[in-house]
Amino acid sequence: MCGIIAHAGADDAVGTLIDGLERLEYRGYDSAGIAVQNGSGIAVHKRAGDVSEVREEIQTAASSGDVGIGHTRWSTHGPPTDENAHPHTTDTDNVAVVHNGIIENHAELREFLADEGYEFTSDTDTEVIPHLVEHFRKEESETIVAFRRAVEELEGSYAIAALVRDEGRVYAARAGSPLVLGLDDDQYYLASDIPAFIEHTRDVVYLEDGDVVVLEPNEAQIFDENGLSVERSGECVDWNPEDVGKGAFDHYMLKEIHNQSSSLSKTIRGRVDPDNGRVALEELDAEILDGVENVHLVACGTSYHAALFGARMLTDAGVRARVFRASEYAKMAGPTTEGTLVIPVTQSGETADTLSALRTATERGATTVTVTNVVGSTAAREADESVFIRAGPEIGVAATKTFTSQVVTLILLSQKIAAELPNATTREDLPELLAALEQVPTHIDQVVETSRAADLASRLLEYDAYFFIGRGMSRPVALEGALKFKEITYEHAEGFASGQLKHGPLALVTSQTPVFGLFTGDEAEKTITNAKEAQTRGAEIIGIGPENGPGAAESDAYLRVPDTHPVCQNLLANVQLQLVSYHTAKQLDRSIDKPRNLAKSVTVQ
Ligand code: F6R
Repeated sequence: MCGIIAHAGADDAVGTLIDGLERLEYRGYDSAGIAVQNGSGIAVHKRAGDVSEVREEIQTAASSGDVGIGHTRWSTHGPPTDENAHPHTTDTDNVAVVHNGIIENHAELREFLADEGYEFTSDTDTEVIPHLVEHFRKEESETIVAFRRAVEELEGSYAIAALVRDEGRVYAARAGSPLVLGLDDDQYYLASDIPAFIEHTRDVVYLEDGDVVVLEPNEAQIFDENGLSVERSGECVDWNPEDVGKGAFDHYMLKEIHNQSSSLSKTIRGRVDPDNGRVALEELDAEILDGVENVHLVACGTSYHAALFGARMLTDAGVRARVFRASEYAKMAGPTTEGTLVIPVTQSGETADTLSALRTATERGATTVTVTNVVGSTAAREADESVFIRAGPEIGVAATKTFTSQVVTLILLSQKIAAELPNATTREDLPELLAALEQVPTHIDQVVETSRAADLASRLLEYDAYFFIGRGMSRPVALEGALKFKEITYEHAEGFASGQLKHGPLALVTSQTPVFGLFTGDEAEKTITNAKEAQTRGAEIIGIGPENGPGAAESDAYLRVPDTHPVCQNLLANVQLQLVSYHTAKQLDRSIDKPRNLAKSVTVQ
């Protein structure tokens, strides 16, 4: 949560910083601010509200400067007020700092600094940092030494960027929060995530924990945790500037729903061989599976639902697999052994709960293979191996295309694991499944072009609550459908295993609670029966199923998906549910790309 950006280069930093912050708003949008070096010192503009509001203020104040830092906030310490907005400065305005993360020892540092006479004006943990830098500058002749000493005092997680009055450079550090360096001839960028500067450069360096960076308009220097100057290898990311814009769409979410055919094509490319019934995951060294006895998948939110899907594929193949909510995993007494393969599933690769589960697994000697979208992410770097879902950047806070790519990656990974483990076997119908997977991108286009979700949404606005039911592999889709719906419509929605409805939740069913029935996959018939039990109690049934599926006649409204392999039907049904959530939220005039209280990358536990 929170996004930071810094720029040093010949061009004016202000526009670059604000544009970059807009691309980072998925990380938080409670307040925003920038600080730039200009002739008269450090100019700071910040306020509660989203980036567009700071843009207006800056355009009015017409600040400029070639070196600057910026921040968009998801509040942790202190409410979203102007005072708590970053950058935070010293009372002398000598130092300005932006920060993503949590400073755990901020209370002790604040007490120490207050005793030294420093005055605080915000509730944030961050405000200790500019004062610490200022404090050590009084003792050191070089700012870099003072900055490093300040950083050494910090406990917790942080990505920090700082400006110091009359110095045309940015000082930055990372420990536990993401920070990427972008290089473009004589322009340099630092940001929490690549979309912030992708329109300027695709050449990036993923910084390591403990790194300190000094950016100047014509130079970027990296120092390791021992203070030694280091070269870090860079890479060219396979993302395009168009990937991070809205294009002709009203919302990122709608764009990302529509783009699923192309993102999924990238996920699948080169990995399936239907003729020989084989899966190729080039980045996974099969030897890593030697000695694996069981599999744990750990994840949060939407990624947890993808993990449920993956676990079902694994158990169907005879692999002992369990799914854990990542936030529960670390403290669980010893479910992990050296024979356990732990698969953290995380789009961002930065979710604190999932990283904590990954670290627990590593401590207990397990083998770890992360499934993630972000190549240089912390999860990718800390796991023994990574399998990338290749979905491209996702900006909408509500995950859509990354869920689809996660599920398909896990389907492929499950079969790879099953092929390697002694007591497991790949699916008998694997050639047919792989052939069907290759068709899914085309089928997604068909769903998106023909969906009647928008018409349906207009009838859905007045109900009390919304239920989603599914069985077997359609259960994770029901859970995901409900999560997406509540996340962006702010209406009450719950997903259930359809067989569980009559064991409690049926008490909630009335004519005011429509039930979405996932009539897809191998177990559709039973879900139809369960849906009819709700219909008998007055609920409207919205079926989602294949063209001529038996559920069509039993439903009050029916959203169709192409009649393909049962496993793939579930992926297509999920696209219909994404569209239902989107159109309902739109008609309710919700903040679709930035739902209230939520941020995309949840870097606190
Ligand atoms: C919901 C959503 C969240 C994330 C969750 C995990 O639409 O996006 O539930 O799925 O915060 O995030 P990652 O996958 O980055 O670990």
